[in-house]
Amino acid sequence: MAVTIKSPREIACMREAGRLLAEVHEELAGIIRPGISTKDIDRECEKLIRERGCTPNFLHYQGYPASVCVSVNEEVVHGIPRDSHIIKEGDIVSLDTGLIYKGYHSDAARTHAVGQISADVQRLMDVTKQSFFEGIKMARAGNRLFDISNAIDAYVSSFGYGIVRALVGHGIGTKLHEDPQIPNFAQRRRGIKLRPGMTLAVEPMINMGTAEVEWLSDDWTVISRDHSYSAHYENTILITDGEPEILTLTSARS
Ligand code: CO
Repeated sequence: MAVTIKSPREIACMREAGRLLAEVHEELAGIIRPGISTKDIDRECEKLIRERGCTPNFLHYQGYPASVCVSVNEEVVHGIPRDSHIIKEGDIVSLDTGLIYKGYHSDAARTHAVGQISADVQRLMDVTKQSFFEGIKMARAGNRLFDISNAIDAYVSSFGYGIVRALVGHGIGTKLHEDPQIPNFAQRRRGIKLRPGMTLAVEPMINMGTAEVEWLSDDWTVISRDHSYSAHYENTILITDGEPEILTLTSARS
């Protein structure tokens, strides 16, 4: 499938889908605390999406059973919410969720610390978030897609972390996953030319140890093979004539 260029009308819908998702993430950030279950987070997430008149796009996606992926500590992505999984002090909790507004999808992820965490784990979270911003410095019309990948890799690798290769970012629009795939690791080629009107989900997934991952027997939850902590940060962005527009962030930059 070709990479789609969104019309001004579509961009307006993508902006609103992004803005509403940023609100959902801000609300969710406020409920993460010791004692809450990952299923409680899912219930709240679904409610926040639906009360905005939107639809959760993860729910039933290829059989996925929830509205949010909640991935704790060594879980990289796609953790399935459970009543039996209780958040505790010292955890890091990645929340990845998305919604559909008037047929247009948004997708974003944040990693939250619960209470006190070690300086090492805080640095993993900070580097993961910053790697997104390093990547999108290259997200300009005329540059090439893998300039983003190469910038993320160069930044993250300088800290010695493992960049997950088994999962990648993606185009987004009338579908959650559109072309192109966006690796977070360096590529030999520079990839397609970036053009105004492309909407992309850029989402580095970074492990403190090995880049290798494996799947739990639920067939969804991805964990780091060495069980080292993992962080995830994602926004939906719009390529413009100038700076990229980050659609899933409010001015608070949460
Ligand atoms: Co995504």
